[in-house]
Amino acid sequence: MSDEILDRVLTLELVRVTERAAVAASYLVGRGNEKDADQAAVDAMRKELNQLDIDGEVVIGEGERDEAPMLFIGEKVGSGKGPKVDIALDPLEGTTLTAKGQADALTTIAMAEKGSLLNAPDVYMQKIAIGPGCPDNLISLEEDPEKNVTELSKALNKPVEQITVCVLDRPRHDNLIESLRSVGAKVRLIQDGDIAGVIHTTEKSTGIDMYMGIGGAPEGVLAAAALRCIGGQMQTKLVLEDQEKKDRAARLGITDLDKIYDLDDMVTGDALFAATGVTNGSILSGIEINSGIWTHTIVMRSSSKTIRWITAHHQNIDKFNSQD
Ligand code: FBP
Repeated sequence: MSDEILDRVLTLELVRVTERAAVAASYLVGRGNEKDADQAAVDAMRKELNQLDIDGEVVIGEGERDEAPMLFIGEKVGSGKGPKVDIALDPLEGTTLTAKGQADALTTIAMAEKGSLLNAPDVYMQKIAIGPGCPDNLISLEEDPEKNVTELSKALNKPVEQITVCVLDRPRHDNLIESLRSVGAKVRLIQDGDIAGVIHTTEKSTGIDMYMGIGGAPEGVLAAAALRCIGGQMQTKLVLEDQEKKDRAARLGITDLDKIYDLDDMVTGDALFAATGVTNGSILSGIEINSGIWTHTIVMRSSSKTIRWITAHHQNIDKFNSQD
């Protein structure tokens, strides 16, 4: 997207959107209620998003129109006055983490030029991702996990035994985990939150070199937007195991149901990505209420490849929560 359209002000406006959602969800941390936590984040994100001067359409949202009352796929957002943009959002990535008071819950959003984000249905997606700095086309979903890990080990010039692969802790990944361990790699199992899982590959301090496995397709597109800004490689494939899912994909305009998507297929133009921590995590600290509200956000812009880490202190809690 041209600089005129995705202007720099809009980048910072996105921070307000994820901040609001994170603060709203933070009041539900540890209270055992996933639905309420998600709803709080959705309400706050929608309200803030509608204050932006954009002509936005949600292409990745809370679900398809008939199953999501708000921020559904196809919902128009923004004042309608600004640039036409696609919006991908996950108002609360880690609803269970939030309800259980566990680490790594985030609020996330991506924005890109109209027509440039993959319109994926809310189904599972197979994913593989690595951070920046490796030779092009190093990883492939068509290769087995052992080969992908071996190639990465050569590219990073470190033994396979020092390669760590992040995987969602699910029974469907038992074979994958066994294959990775059989070749000598370490596996970091996460309970939830594979947007963060993918972003972890880009940050040396996390110790994660590769992300693999099956998670949500919406989360896949959001993670792709982040990698488009930071750099890195990713391949994905929709998991469409029955006719109902194939029909849903077709309704969103997907014609090749077996397509393997590269980063550039999922996000075809410049994008912005923002995430704010709800609970403490390895890339972002969570919301802290201490003489006001502290928020921690990462916001990125692919055209400039700028990544900003924004810590904000909102001194007037009442004003912040009233969203004026
Ligand atoms: P929610 O916050 O929407 O619950 O998603 C959490 C998550 O772990 C995602 O990060 C991941 O892509 C997906 O759920 C995995 O789905 P499942 O829990 O069905 O394995």
